[in-house]
Amino acid sequence: MKNQLRYGKLKYISFIVLDLLCLIAANIIASRLYVEMGRLRYSYRVHRSIVVYMLVIDLFVTLAFNTLNRVLRRRTVKEIVESAKHVALSFVLLATVLFTTKLGADYSRVTVYLAYLIYFVLLVGLHIAWKWLLMKCLKHNDCPTALLMTTDKFLQEGIDTLTKSGVDVKTVFLLKALNRESVDAIRMVQSEDEATADICWNMLDRVYIYGLDHQMIPYKLNKACGEMGIKIDIVDFEYKVLELKTIPNKDPKYGALSFLESKRDIPFPIRRVYWITETEANLHRGFHAHKQNCQLLFCPYGKIDIILDDGSSEKKTVTLDGPGKGLLLMPGLWREMVWQQSGSVLCVLASEYYDEAEYIRNYDEFIAYKTEKRCLDEAARSEV
Ligand code: TYD
Repeated sequence: MKNQLRYGKLKYISFIVLDLLCLIAANIIASRLYVEMGRLRYSYRVHRSIVVYMLVIDLFVTLAFNTLNRVLRRRTVKEIVESAKHVALSFVLLATVLFTTKLGADYSRVTVYLAYLIYFVLLVGLHIAWKWLLMKCLKHNDCPTALLMTTDKFLQEGIDTLTKSGVDVKTVFLLKALNRESVDAIRMVQSEDEATADICWNMLDRVYIYGLDHQMIPYKLNKACGEMGIKIDIVDFEYKVLELKTIPNKDPKYGALSFLESKRDIPFPIRRVYWITETEANLHRGFHAHKQNCQLLFCPYGKIDIILDDGSSEKKTVTLDGPGKGLLLMPGLWREMVWQQSGSVLCVLASEYYDEAEYIRNYDEFIAYKTEKRCLDEAARSEV
């Protein structure tokens, strides 16, 4: 609820007011109907006090059970289910209060049943109409709005990449806690709850993940996006040269120490580590691409060229020649490794367990795979 208030204060309050108005209107209609039937046997004063109980209970249910959570993104069926739950909860609480205070003896139960029934119908109808109106008035479709999920390391780059491709980044969800409230006037959130509340209350169109493996998408965010019908897009760079943290050797006898931490320095959980040793100069290995595997390559000893090919532009070569340099490779890149110095050691950290099925070892197959992927990505982009 705190998040709803924080990110969508006015919209959230407007739904609360709408709830209360529906309840008042339902009670007026119910008592009128009951009078028409000529059966009202108790005073309006008693009825008024019941209505006050109903309103207080309704407000309590809304706030305590957070029944307006993600109301803006509920589809019709979900809206009906959630409204039914809200009405049922309010009804049970009211019945309990009336039963324990013995107030129920003074008035007709039928009016209350009727009031809650009318309230439910009004609630569903008005919620749907109000959401439709809010979306119509507040959504500016000139460029899609998005939440960007990334790490501190790729923050600026992620914002720039999306902005360049015509996306309006409204919120950044940083995986690693950072003491910042905003960057370039873009709001920062640091928890899944805040992120999902923000997507809903600000009616964002898309979620983009930059520089992170798909396994890093938090479960709650994934689930919420599914519910809200929002697509999560992984925007990858294809590769990146990283500086690995190294404590230099002030004393040559003491050596140097380099380290990296899973999910902090590299954007994937490490499932596998392997290394290639006993090598001769001019050794060529690789000649494959991965469909899912993200990797970090580094060469703690010696010198190795990594030749990268994305299937469409010129090949690029990155030389790994020391313990402080790492090469982050996202899936979908053809690679060839050339040993420049005998004895050079290649270490690889991988995001996936070994699975021959996710390798592409044939170059023609790789080109066909990339072409198909490009078409799919373009189709997805034009959907926004
Ligand atoms: P390969 O991927 O062909 O090595 P490179 O691309 O460096 O030339 O792997 C060589 C062999 O090792 C191949 O038969 C598969 C096997 N292998 C595993 O069993 N587990 C692993 O984690 C890796 C990387 C390879």
